[in-house]
Amino acid sequence: MTEDAYRLKSPDGSELELPVRSGTVGPDVIDIAGLYKAQGIFTYDPGFVSTGSCESDITFIDGEQGILMYRGYPVEQLAKHSSFIEVSYLLQHGELPTADELSEFDNTIRVHTMLNEGMLSFFKGFRYDAHPMAMLSAIVGSMSAYYHDEMNASNPAHRDIFAHRILAKLPTIAAAAYKLNVGQPFIYPRNDLNYTENLLHMLFAVPAEPYEIDPVAAEALDLLFILHADHEQNCSTSTVRMAGSSGANPYSAIAAGIAALWGPAHGGANEAVLNMLEEIGDVSQIGKYVEKAKDKNDPFRLMGFGHRVYKNFDPRATIIREMAYKVLEKLDRKDTPLFDLAQELEQVALKDDYFIEKNLYPNVDFYSGIIYRALGIPTSMFTVMFALGRSVGWTAHWREMIADPKGKIARPRQLYTGPAARDYVDVSKR
Ligand code: CMC
Repeated sequence: MTEDAYRLKSPDGSELELPVRSGTVGPDVIDIAGLYKAQGIFTYDPGFVSTGSCESDITFIDGEQGILMYRGYPVEQLAKHSSFIEVSYLLQHGELPTADELSEFDNTIRVHTMLNEGMLSFFKGFRYDAHPMAMLSAIVGSMSAYYHDEMNASNPAHRDIFAHRILAKLPTIAAAAYKLNVGQPFIYPRNDLNYTENLLHMLFAVPAEPYEIDPVAAEALDLLFILHADHEQNCSTSTVRMAGSSGANPYSAIAAGIAALWGPAHGGANEAVLNMLEEIGDVSQIGKYVEKAKDKNDPFRLMGFGHRVYKNFDPRATIIREMAYKVLEKLDRKDTPLFDLAQELEQVALKDDYFIEKNLYPNVDFYSGIIYRALGIPTSMFTVMFALGRSVGWTAHWREMIADPKGKIARPRQLYTGPAARDYVDVSKR
């Protein structure tokens, strides 16, 4: 890492040198950590648009070029050649595994899929129509009660076990939430199946008849999980880091991340896209909805469009669009009105000056729901699917944050705009 300096002129004419730091790739950063101490002044950056919150060697994004790399490997290569379990190992450990390491890691995840039976009884307390994201966050939060004494964050072995448990048990929790919604009995995991096969089994098998896993569905989910696995300091990952920075139990930090992911500006967009497409209903209505999205007095936004970092294209959206074609073809879904509508909407928006000027392109959430829908996964489960993939990024970032010797509790400051000091007035005189 090289060091340069950025000179800041203060109102009194004095100059302050702020170190400029360079990463491996990507823009330099001005290190302002010492600014308040030196000048008694804060920086102000709502939404952290120009702020790097940490050093990280996990994931890199170049928003101008549409590049996404996990530990230096382009996501396109991982999507083509790797598997979600191998990518999980890579994100956790920094390097691709040897064949033996991969087999051991895969086995570890397979043998930790069961939940404590007591955890299952929590589901009985939810209404049949509880949103699965609410259940996922609550049950993962409950893991902090089950594993509190066994979790010493300064012990690397405990950090490993935590990451394994999150990866292995989230599909079981997700499937249990779905089963509650559809009123079917909970299906126990099968450790002879791989990660996505097991998920499909727990989602769709019923005790009354055999369930045959569709390899096309398992493959499609694996690819979607690779593409969702990490995305540097996004809202939910930053939430996990922030909650974890106080030394909180990491299972509760993941529960906080799940809550952050649920919002429609973040992972909840995949559910919102499908709802939007259904509301639009027909290509003849596209113009009307594009106009609504452009109207500043209308809160409607084109869901699945735009991104804080990508200003050219989202490489994940490109891969997912291609995959949507293949999956629909392989599953023999010739009748694809929603996919046709989505593609037409994309074309209209991409030619529109508003979307061109603001660099708004389809993001990862625009086409993923079309695939989930084709696999029989209900709309309310879409963001849960996102959470399963992203869970590996969350645990990798929590581990990186907690192991950082320079780590501090995340504690931003503010620009105070409330009343200045004033005296208390007795209630009888107000
Ligand atoms: N439809 C219409 N206008 C939009 C949209 C959209 N989808 N996205 C951004 N804009 C406009 C916005 O109104 C603003 O206009 P102006 O400069 O005139 O005020 C400009 O583009 C910049 O938008 P912003 O909200 O300041 O940008 P941001 O970086 O804060 O927000 C975003 C990024 C993803 C939250 C936003 O683009 C959005 O709300 N998109 C729709 C929701 C969505 O698809 N979210 C998924 C994001 S990708 C996966 C993930 O992170 O989970």
